[in-house]
Amino acid sequence: MNYYKIDSLEKYFKIYNKSVREPEEFWGRVADENFIWYQKWDKVLEYDMINADFKWFKNAKLNIARNCLDRHLNKRGDKTAIIFEPNNPDEAAQHITYSELHERVCRMANVLKEKGIQKGDRVCIYLPMIPELAVSLLACARIGAIHSVVFAGFSASAVASRIQDSECKMVITSDGSYRGNKAIDLKGIVDEALQTCPSVESVLVVNRTNSEVQMKEGRDHWIQPLLDAAAKDNVAEIMDAEDPLFILYTSGSTGKPKGMVHTTAGYMVYTAFTFKNIFNYKGDDVYWCTADIGWITGHSYIVYGPLLNGATTVIFEGVPSYPDFSRFWDIIDKHKVNQFYTAPTAIRALAKENLSYIEKHDLSSIKVLGSVGEPINEEAWHWYNNHVGRKTAPITDTWWQTETGGIMIAPLPFITPTKPTYATLPLPGIQPVLMDERRNEIDDNQVVGSLCIKFPWPGIARTIWGDHQRYIDTYFSAFRGKYFTGDGALRDEVGYYRITGRVDDVVIVSGHNLGTAPIEDAINEHPAVAESAIVGFPHDIKGNALYGFITLKERGEGRDRDNLRREINEHIASHIGPIAKLDKIQFVSGLPKTRSGKIMRRILRKIAEGDFSNFGDITTLLNPEIVEEIKNERID
Ligand code: PRX
Repeated sequence: MNYYKIDSLEKYFKIYNKSVREPEEFWGRVADENFIWYQKWDKVLEYDMINADFKWFKNAKLNIARNCLDRHLNKRGDKTAIIFEPNNPDEAAQHITYSELHERVCRMANVLKEKGIQKGDRVCIYLPMIPELAVSLLACARIGAIHSVVFAGFSASAVASRIQDSECKMVITSDGSYRGNKAIDLKGIVDEALQTCPSVESVLVVNRTNSEVQMKEGRDHWIQPLLDAAAKDNVAEIMDAEDPLFILYTSGSTGKPKGMVHTTAGYMVYTAFTFKNIFNYKGDDVYWCTADIGWITGHSYIVYGPLLNGATTVIFEGVPSYPDFSRFWDIIDKHKVNQFYTAPTAIRALAKENLSYIEKHDLSSIKVLGSVGEPINEEAWHWYNNHVGRKTAPITDTWWQTETGGIMIAPLPFITPTKPTYATLPLPGIQPVLMDERRNEIDDNQVVGSLCIKFPWPGIARTIWGDHQRYIDTYFSAFRGKYFTGDGALRDEVGYYRITGRVDDVVIVSGHNLGTAPIEDAINEHPAVAESAIVGFPHDIKGNALYGFITLKERGEGRDRDNLRREINEHIASHIGPIAKLDKIQFVSGLPKTRSGKIMRRILRKIAEGDFSNFGDITTLLNPEIVEEIKNERID
């Protein structure tokens, strides 16, 4: 039996059972038959779920960039690897073949080496969605440098804290970036960030917008002349299975972002396997994921997963609303996209617009639709199904996380019967469990619980950069011996999972994972603010939006409230990024606290949602009277 491709529901159950009964045999076969290795493993898996220690394909030697590129050159050298669709529809799209991509990656790899980057060094990549972004990831992987991509919407201080945390030696950026009708000064943001980043020795700059930038002598270099001068061949570094491939930061329950570390072999096997099965990619299909490579979805399902499978993947620089709301549909029509993978927040925003935007385009190429990043509500699901999928393209609602490396729970198109709002069944190798409040495993169906995974899978993050204890505390301590996802889920009568949302202090806004703690930390730095508490509340388009309850210091009391609100949001934008701005800000005279001084967020969440029923017992609060005040002055 071919374990790599599941083609019927019966085969899914067979493979799933095999993967649970004999995980090593299962993953060993998948790894053995579908990749190139310098040396095979001694053991498929060694693990410890208490100390969060995972070794997949122990002692195997490989290079993931070689698996993404070199392996395809004989058979698919002339096939398009990347279609680049620029922000401006009048600028020509680019088709980059596997051979061309291979050459560009080799040249870039040689430039990195020439600038002193060695195996194990960290390289921060702060680029817009242009081909050089994918090329930079692969070039790092080729020479064994660890890439740390920072989403190019983050502010200078967010970039700085990420560079400092992993002590990056180099930054790859561009002069500027285009997004819709805006041009953003990326190099200026990097310059500001680097004032507090002594580890950075060099900055490579892509010319994208032809804008004037400051180039610091000795540190900053335009990349193109270096690429032109570099050799076009590069021998890929021999990497150990567990060598780190990349760091990707995600927000956490304290102000400091968590640098999730993914390693080489397990991540490769898992992203390739999941891409193959979830998107039903065939032959010369054109696959398009609209995420940004600055997030895990882009790492795994724009770059690594598709290229490992020799697919054609679209990189889109722009936004769905530019030049108008038909842009997505225009691109699907223009490039005859077969698999389309986007986020519910985009679907909801586009569903609000006139249907004529979509109706003037031919979407008949679409075979499979994907959704990711947040729960998809019933209305959005049906709109997606009716208007984009024309009721013939199955929707795969894919649940996963930065930490999981790849998709964990999702229907396989044409195989798993879909059910709106349900991510349905786990992928082979994934063993989800629901836990009750007493921390016991729930056996029944038709129940809600905290979603945990009880056995390792190859794509699991291995640690938090520089802080393994935090990794254990965050993911492996709430339910001993299990990986805790931070999500709640419902399991229905046939065993389908529906993700109900976060059960911790993370809020998913427009598909972006935002920890409330870092936002509170940023707000509290504002000179007029004494204390703050941020909670999420339901929002028609964004899924959730942020509501801030803020107490002021004496000097803030006399200030104009609207000015203060504006200042606080500007403060958040410059400390974190515009995505973390608050939709509502209520100034309060105090925050509800327990006797031990902990803010009772449960109550604030209910007030923000406008649900005044059942606050629970508030008499144990230190200041129960405050609840009434906050309720009465709630912003609608
Ligand atoms: O709450 C879940 C939500 O997004 C969180 C992970 O966010 P991040 O690490 O940024 O990765 C996003 C892309 C994989 C999860 O804990 N989430 C993601 N996908 C879904 C989802 N919630 C419901 N349904 C989904 N399909």
